[in-house]
Amino acid sequence: MAGRPLPPLLRLAAASFVLLLFFLHLPPAHSQIVPVIDDNFAYSFPNFLSDADGVDLLTFNDSEIRGGALQLTPDTSNIASSYLVNKSGRVFYNMPFKVWQINSSSSSNATAKQVLSFNTFFKINVFRVGNMTPGEGLAFLLSSDLRPAPPGCHGAFLGLTNASFNGNPDNHFVAVEFDTVRQADLGDPNDNHVGLDINGVNSTKTFSDLNFSIAPVNDTNYTVWIDYDGGVRYLRVYMAIDDDPKPASAVLEAPLDLSEYLKQELYFGFAASTGTNYELNRVLSWNLTVQMLTDGRKGVPPWKIGAIVGGVLVFVIALGAGLFVWLQMRKRMARDAAASSSSALVLGALKSLPGTPREFEFKDLDKATNNFDEKMKLGKGGFGEVYRGVLPGENKQVAVKRFSRGGTFAPNDFLKELTIINRLRHKNLVPLVGWCHANSMLLLVYEYMPNGSLDHHLFDGPNSNPTTTLSWERRYNVIAGVASALHYLHDEYDQKVVHRDLKASNIMLDSNFNARLGDFGLARALESDKTSYAELEMAGVPGTVGYIAPECFHTGKATRESDVFGFGAVVLEVVCGRRPRCDIDGFMFLCDWVWKLFREGRILEAVDARLGEGYDPEDARRLLLLALACSHPIPSERPKTDVTVQIISRAVAPPAVPHFKPSFVWPSVPALTGASSWSASVSTVPSSHEAPSPQRRPRNSDPEGHVAAKDPPFRPICSPTYLMLV
Ligand SMILES: *[C@@H]1O[C@H](CO)[C@@H](O)[C@H](O)[C@H]1NC(C)=O
Ligand SMILES: *[C@@H]1O[C@H](CO)[C@@H](O)[C@H](O)[C@H]1NC(C)=O
Ligand SMILES: *[C@@H]1O[C@H](CO)[C@@H](O)[C@H](O)[C@H]1NC(C)=O
Ligand SMILES: *[C@@H]1O[C@H](CO)[C@@H](O)[C@H](O)[C@H]1NC(C)=O
Ligand SMILES: *[C@@H]1O[C@H](CO)[C@@H](O)[C@H](O)[C@H]1NC(C)=O
Ligand SMILES: *[C@@H]1O[C@H](CO)[C@@H](O)[C@H](O)[C@H]1NC(C)=O
Ligand SMILES: *[C@@H]1O[C@H](CO)[C@@H](O)[C@H](O)[C@H]1NC(C)=O
Ligand SMILES: *[C@@H]1O[C@H](CO)[C@@H](O)[C@H](O)[C@H]1NC(C)=O
Ligand SMILES: *[C@@H]1O[C@H](CO)[C@@H](O)[C@H](O)[C@H]1NC(C)=O
Ligand SMILES: *[C@@H]1O[C@H](CO)[C@@H](O)[C@H](O)[C@H]1NC(C)=O
Repeated sequence: MAGRPLPPLLRLAAASFVLLLFFLHLPPAHSQIVPVIDDNFAYSFPNFLSDADGVDLLTFNDSEIRGGALQLTPDTSNIASSYLVNKSGRVFYNMPFKVWQINSSSSSNATAKQVLSFNTFFKINVFRVGNMTPGEGLAFLLSSDLRPAPPGCHGAFLGLTNASFNGNPDNHFVAVEFDTVRQADLGDPNDNHVGLDINGVNSTKTFSDLNFSIAPVNDTNYTVWIDYDGGVRYLRVYMAIDDDPKPASAVLEAPLDLSEYLKQELYFGFAASTGTNYELNRVLSWNLTVQMLTDGRKGVPPWKIGAIVGGVLVFVIALGAGLFVWLQMRKRMARDAAASSSSALVLGALKSLPGTPREFEFKDLDKATNNFDEKMKLGKGGFGEVYRGVLPGENKQVAVKRFSRGGTFAPNDFLKELTIINRLRHKNLVPLVGWCHANSMLLLVYEYMPNGSLDHHLFDGPNSNPTTTLSWERRYNVIAGVASALHYLHDEYDQKVVHRDLKASNIMLDSNFNARLGDFGLARALESDKTSYAELEMAGVPGTVGYIAPECFHTGKATRESDVFGFGAVVLEVVCGRRPRCDIDGFMFLCDWVWKLFREGRILEAVDARLGEGYDPEDARRLLLLALACSHPIPSERPKTDVTVQIISRAVAPPAVPHFKPSFVWPSVPALTGASSWSASVSTVPSSHEAPSPQRRPRNSDPEGHVAAKDPPFRPICSPTYLMLV
């Protein structure tokens, strides 16, 4: 900042005060991150729904989610010889856990390992089809690799391994098998046993004296508990019929050091197979609790207490001398120092989080992008630039997003983005590969999307040639994908997330032209939604006009409803092949023009002319009506994402849209009260407590701000004058 530097003593005083504030204030602003570090990770599937497939759960080969259960091998009454014989499959929970780490606080020998602990219980139903001899078995699987079932793993191999790889240490798996066939050549004791399998199906330990049958003649559910204590490295397996309580004694227990067999990453899952004999291998419910490795950060370590005491002393000594100047500088210093010290801590903590994306070295990313060569630049996002890169030594293409905020480091945005996107998994979201923090620079590495962004396809390059225009089918599919991703963010993910920055340039297309929503730079969890649009510095972000819901200029808050507004703008863009803000037929905004065509019964004239006849009129009308409904100026009138998804999947009729676009009213009330005056409403906008919004400021000094109360109370967002407010 301008002005002379603070004298060292004052700086010390201010810094120690800030330090004090910081420690007294734990947890700081990042409370949504910190608990994760100390908490257990818990997940529960009371049953299995097919829309978890590809999101929370990944099913491979013959496994699928059906009828509320994981069907590890097929469940069908079709011809057994083709549908039930020699099948294999596996299912994984879609999140890697760090299974061990070097105990960093161990001073004696750095190779002391910490190993995670977990408790899980699940209900299985191994069904003997038609009362025949069952085969082969199912297993609870801990695997370092998220891999499909290897070829030849049916029959005795339980979907775990195959004849040539059985017992290979490179398999990096540990499993608990529930085996219903005796394979004498693999050392099975009988045809009804539980076993511990390490890298192969020759069990290191088995228990065959079960007083029940895993695949009984009568249909029976069993609950299985598996407890693993990483502290003493011990595994226990319990089993009980149906809802019976957990028995006192284990059916199988054994010392087990997972760190000996697994790489650092671990995925939890199940595997199963059938052979010439078959059975149904079903998992009906699953609870999993993992005690995360904490990197010795539990509790307040002695150095922190030392720091607090030291901070107090130094502070008191320096206070008298520094008070006056400090008061002047307090605000700024507190912000800067707290941000950097807390972010350093959180960054450090993040690195130890299981499921954290890979951390890259700056030099590798620098090399990958050819020193951030202009030629490698893919585009510019809300908070920085995106470059294409090829990871050295891996030959893997990635997109590297370099954060820049007027040259200053914005750790909070970065950390929020990282924690949130790291946990978001959906087939229509751009997957995160890793990240890097070096030289006060932040970088995120995403999977490279070979087909670039949607707006590129709609407006640039190949699209100017009508023959290569994005086909109608692709457009419909893209919209369906975006709707699905948005629904996931809003309603399906346990922590509700608003995207905040939905627009065509943030929608990427994968190699099959499926939509992948990207750029969560602005995504925030709803629960910690404290920031306002003022902070987004939208003035510096091109191409945002027309995507932002009118109420945002008043509240400064992004909401699910404002995301839906942005979605509506994207749908119009895709169907009409025009940008949301375009000069057409006297209208500044696309949605106003489409609304007029709708009113005049000519809505299909809005469809991108480059498509010619190549579109489905029914579907086009459906999408346009949906888009208009999403563009409703009153947030509560916009459809919710679940309805949106149903409309797009043609399960529900398109929404009813008023013939005239309703006026924007603020504060939004369902019925228009003509008496409420614009100026009165403006005065309700809290502007003194919040950072002034770049939108609000011009509004107050708007040369037309003197409009009388009898004028239309609020100008609709799509009116030309609105532009001046942006
Ligand atoms: C399973 O997990 C869910 C959600 O975490 C929890 O509500 C439920 O109580 C758990 N079941 C048991 C038996 O602990
Ligand atoms: C199933 O696999 C076994 C050997 O793994 C083989 O002998 C048998 O012919 C296979 N059956 C079918 C129907 O493919
Ligand atoms: C890590 O090492 C320290 C010092 O040797 C020890 O006190 C602590 O219990 C260890 N933590 C774990 C989880 O093993
Ligand atoms: C820790 O112990 C291992 C053998 O158990 C040894 O190879 C290594 O050098 C030791 N490290 C230190 C820092 O003492
Ligand atoms: C499982 O699927 C993968 C790829 O989808 C394939 O390579 C593998 O051979 C399949 N395994 C079996 C047992 O069919
Ligand atoms: C076993 O699986 C590996 C891949 O994991 C495959 O390369 C190999 O051919 C398979 N062996 C047999 C006998 O199918
Ligand atoms: C598994 O057991 C069989 C029979 O005891 C043996 O022939 C085979 O070598 C074992 N394989 C491994 C990997 O231990
Ligand atoms: C099996 O034995 C355990 C004790 O070892 C007992 O608690 C359980 O009820 C028995 N189950 C059946 C089905 O008999
Ligand atoms: C097994 O559990 C499922 C789901 O929890 C239930 O629908 C089914 O009736 C149970 N079967 C038996 C035999 O208890
Ligand atoms: C199935 O039979 C076993 C023993 O024959 C019995 O313990 C169990 O309760 C039966 N299960 C059901 C669901 O009837």
